[in-house]
Amino acid sequence: MALMKSEVFPASEEYRRNREVYAERIADLHRRRKAAALGGPARARQLHKERNQLLPRERIAALLDPGSPFLEFCQLAGEGMYEGVPPGGSIITGVGIVAGRPCMVIANDATVKGGTYYGITCKKHVRAQRFAWQHRLPCITMVQSGGANLPDQPNIFPDEGQFGSIFYNQIRMSGEGIAQIAIVHGPSTAGGAYMPALCDETVIVRNQGAMFLGGPQLVYAATKEEVGIEALGGGEMHSRISGVTDHLAESDGHAIAITRDIVANLGGIAPQLWDVAPPREPRFDPNDIYGLISADPRVPTNNHEIVARIVDNSEFHEFKPLYGETLITGFGRIMGFEIGILCNNGVLFSESALKATHFIDLCCKRNIPLLFMADVTGFMVGRQAEEGGISKHGAKMITAMASANVPKYTLIIGNSYGAGYMSMCGRAFKPNAMMMWPNGRSAIMGPDQAANTLAMVRDEIHKREGTSWNDEEREAYRAPVRKEFEDFANAYNFARNTWCDMVIDPLETRQVMAMLLDLAGRLPRQRTDVGVLRM
Ligand code: COA
Repeated sequence: MALMKSEVFPASEEYRRNREVYAERIADLHRRRKAAALGGPARARQLHKERNQLLPRERIAALLDPGSPFLEFCQLAGEGMYEGVPPGGSIITGVGIVAGRPCMVIANDATVKGGTYYGITCKKHVRAQRFAWQHRLPCITMVQSGGANLPDQPNIFPDEGQFGSIFYNQIRMSGEGIAQIAIVHGPSTAGGAYMPALCDETVIVRNQGAMFLGGPQLVYAATKEEVGIEALGGGEMHSRISGVTDHLAESDGHAIAITRDIVANLGGIAPQLWDVAPPREPRFDPNDIYGLISADPRVPTNNHEIVARIVDNSEFHEFKPLYGETLITGFGRIMGFEIGILCNNGVLFSESALKATHFIDLCCKRNIPLLFMADVTGFMVGRQAEEGGISKHGAKMITAMASANVPKYTLIIGNSYGAGYMSMCGRAFKPNAMMMWPNGRSAIMGPDQAANTLAMVRDEIHKREGTSWNDEEREAYRAPVRKEFEDFANAYNFARNTWCDMVIDPLETRQVMAMLLDLAGRLPRQRTDVGVLRM
């Protein structure tokens, strides 16, 4: 395989300035992760401890094998969305190794509003389930939840993708032989009770865990029956009388030990089907990425330099290097796993779209996973491009990408705008996972373009109605639109809304991809049936 070339000038003023700006971006990422990791307010955490309970992250740490990674999904979901709710949305989701087997762990954080579900909590829980389903990962749900956060009803109750989907996904996964296991760590009401009730096997902690469709106050209000938590839905009652739970544990730690035993008895672990080479570090230092990405988002990056810092030994078998040069395509390895990379290096032209179509087809025929590294402002516009049939060529790329039944990953490394976002495997095209670097941004169009477009629409209205506005008024109209689009495009806005799975440091990319590819390599090969390719 060919060694890539690199021309980087670490001594240059520009490189130094870029690095400084990127260092601040990384510090910002860690500040946000720290806030998410902390969980609810000190008072709630203290109360939790006084009840002799492990905090949710302590529970996860005890559940995972020593030294297991924890690939966290949607860690920054809901950031700044609800008063008094830290990033994370009252739930923690991620993949880790339990008794030697990769599992999806879903843990309520009862220190955040009693572990109740907001709209974003439902979305995050459902997203974790979808990943587990796609990769056939057992789901371990660590429950302590007051169920629906009642004021957020419209975002929890009526629609698909909300609480009902959590139940539906549990049932369908169970039906497909994907184990559903729950630990009831604390009081779990309504939806919080149905989640463990719908599992294959459920553990409950004595004098801590409780499950009921309505808590004691609600029961009294409805029927005037006076009953305490333990009698209504405690561990003893459910393990001896109702039979709702299968194992009675003495503490959080004991429940976790029982759960590890359950996982250890799930049968054989699917073998890795891909031929994985010994991993090799890139020959060109990935640290350079910080200096290569301009502090000014309008300055493009030479993305050959980026690919050279992502692939093993900086070796890359580039496909069609002389054709459609605004899209880099080729084969390399990441931590030993073979991968087909499509990486933008300018706007998409007809040629680059055709090249993408051909390359995706090659990967499907060879069962090689695809990594879309998005850095694109969109497709070329204008008369020449339209006459050249850019719509049908773009359609071919999108059809090939959407049809491809190999594992697909999206990594937004810079811009990802409009149809460019879509064609580089945007969220709607169901990549196995979607990551963003902290400098990544995505929107229907760039902030300036959006401000100009809307101002031009207004210009036309003024013309039609015989009115006018001066430059100052026009700029006053453009500025908030620009700001709104800038805020929208921010990687953390995507993370907050669970539109991406994670914001990662560029230096984490190889590790994250290795974990994801290891999971995908244990699935049977799927056939690709390509939609009609318009010629
Ligand atoms: N909707 C909205 N907010 C809720 C809530 C719900 N269903 N349940 C709890 N909260 C909020 C509380 O108002 C409190 O808010 P604050 O932090 O701003 O003061 C916070 O969550 C923690 O509640 P608290 O009761 O202090 O915590 P706890 O650990 O002692 O008890 C529960 C937690 C969940 C057992 C208890 O709050 C409860 O029983 N809630 C009602 C659950 C219910 O009936 N759900 C029905 C859903 S259909």
